[in-house]
Amino acid sequence: MSGFAYENLFAKTVPAPAVRFAGYPKYNFIGGHNDPTLIPVDGLIEATASALRKEGSKLAMYTAAQGNQGHLGLREFVKSKAKLRGIDCSTDDILITAGSGQGIDLINAVLLEPGDTVILEEFSYGGAITKLKREGQKIVGAPLDEDGIKIDALANILKDLQGKGITPKYIYTIPTIQNPTGSIMPLERRRQLLKVAIEYGVPIFEDECYADLIWGGTKAPPAIYSLDRDHVIHIGSFSKTLSPALRLGYAIADWGFMSRMIACRSDSGCGALEQMVVAEYFSQNFGEHVDELSETLKEKLDTMVEALEREFGTTVEPWVPKGGIFLWMKLPEEIDITKLVKPAAEAGIALNPGPEWAIEGADSKSRLRLCFALTSKEEIREGVAALAKVCYEQTGIPAQSGNIRRRS
Ligand SMILES: Cc1ncc(COP(=O)(O)O)c(C=O)c1O
Repeated sequence: MSGFAYENLFAKTVPAPAVRFAGYPKYNFIGGHNDPTLIPVDGLIEATASALRKEGSKLAMYTAAQGNQGHLGLREFVKSKAKLRGIDCSTDDILITAGSGQGIDLINAVLLEPGDTVILEEFSYGGAITKLKREGQKIVGAPLDEDGIKIDALANILKDLQGKGITPKYIYTIPTIQNPTGSIMPLERRRQLLKVAIEYGVPIFEDECYADLIWGGTKAPPAIYSLDRDHVIHIGSFSKTLSPALRLGYAIADWGFMSRMIACRSDSGCGALEQMVVAEYFSQNFGEHVDELSETLKEKLDTMVEALEREFGTTVEPWVPKGGIFLWMKLPEEIDITKLVKPAAEAGIALNPGPEWAIEGADSKSRLRLCFALTSKEEIREGVAALAKVCYEQTGIPAQSGNIRRRS
């Protein structure tokens, strides 16, 4: 650092410095990016013109004169979309946020103090884990199976904590297309989860940011919020259905809780133009857009699964999801995926190593998550082949590509 020694003045709690952006690699399988060919550019241009004609003059006022819960038209749309998840709410129950990430931040701000305990699924959204670790919360991982949180194990955790006089502040779950495993929690499991949570006096924090992207006729059970609005806080996002760059999401909660979320906010609301445009575009085109997007995502998933089978054979164990944008997988135990990150990056491949998506203690060393939404099918094939090559060079696994034995 040159010039003035700001570091002498930094707050004790300031996070470690950010890394400067250095562009994206060719085979970018990380993060929650979307398919660039399916951004409805023409539709958004029309929606922008139409929204500005109708409401442009309101941009003269903070929140476009819609109040601090967000644009009414967008909340009307969220209300109608929430019905698809079984949620019957009013626009007063909805808060528009800067992505669901801000929803997580605000809920944490309302509930958490350093040293508090929260329960997360043993594998969970890396962003949520990082935020909690930074704030000094204790995270307890609840074991998962192919249907989501294992209820018996959760009940044991809650009982054990109760014995130590600890009431966790929430149980954070991604029940519909879990990140990273891709599971969908069945209705009966949702009911059991609620029952246990209520028994121990712990609210459920439900994150449904992938629930609109489900394919193949699979119908997800209703959101947990729809089963009990008193014990559940629900968040969702437009990042996955439309664009992560627009930074729009929402929370659904009762006023007692939401009024505290609003009080924790210091950004004067989300950009009003984005809200107007998404309201305008999605109130006409939501069903059509997500159907097309889901169809393309399913094709890309199939391409990735085929490429993995060809390049890794039986050495990879993928959890094939019924929706979303990620594939979670396991390589043989002897592979430490964190050691592959650097050589993979040198070969132009970015991946999410399992440990970043795991609560401490969960068996994650040989797991990884690949996002299939951003890259083209050709890049998926090439990138998976390049990853298998890196993996072979570093570990001797996989020894074959298709039926052909690899040579160093
Ligand atoms: C489960 C989950 N929740 C929240 C987020 C945050 O996304 P955004 O803030 O873009 O809505 C993500 C991003 O990938 C996610 O996977």
